[in-house]
Amino acid sequence: MIISLIGYMGSGKSHISKNLSEKINLQVFDLDHEISLNFGKTIPEIFSEKGEIFFRKEEKKILEEFLNKKNQDFILSLGGGTPVYYNNIESINALSESIYLRSSVSILTERLLLQKENRPLIANLDDEALPEFIAKHLFERNVFYAQAKHVIDTDHKTPDAISEEIINLLQLRHLPEK
Ligand code: S3P
Repeated sequence: MIISLIGYMGSGKSHISKNLSEKINLQVFDLDHEISLNFGKTIPEIFSEKGEIFFRKEEKKILEEFLNKKNQDFILSLGGGTPVYYNNIESINALSESIYLRSSVSILTERLLLQKENRPLIANLDDEALPEFIAKHLFERNVFYAQAKHVIDTDHKTPDAISEEIINLLQLRHLPEK
């Protein structure tokens, strides 16, 4: 089984995927990290040197590669925009158990104010402009995120609690505590 985590920037995909991986002993792949490795460049470098369209094409290519790995079980942490482009959400749903980590605009804003630099879509926005940008952007993207097979509300929940929800939702085998 492939478990794919989707959600807006700052929704905790990377963090939850690592937490979950420890509980159920599945390997994690982070799509942004894989794209970076492929090019030997950071995501901001790829955006600034090659442009967003190039990034989206590579993102799709690497997504398809991972989703089409046969007979392998792993967790795939996707980029915030991955489900939104091309027919990606259809491939994600056809080939994985997709989980949307849903967070409120206020929590996303709080987190992203502290982590703008590595995210080219928001790095150059003034802090004051961030809440409105996130609200509008999330509204546009919700159509895609909402197509995930499962949705988990994450506000005010610990990573442990969110992982437990995923384990129950997918009826996964929980490894005994060390
Ligand atoms: C993006 C989200 C980023 C990264 C890129 C574009 C987006 O991933 O893929 O900066 O379009 O929302 P995170 O969601 O891990 O920040």
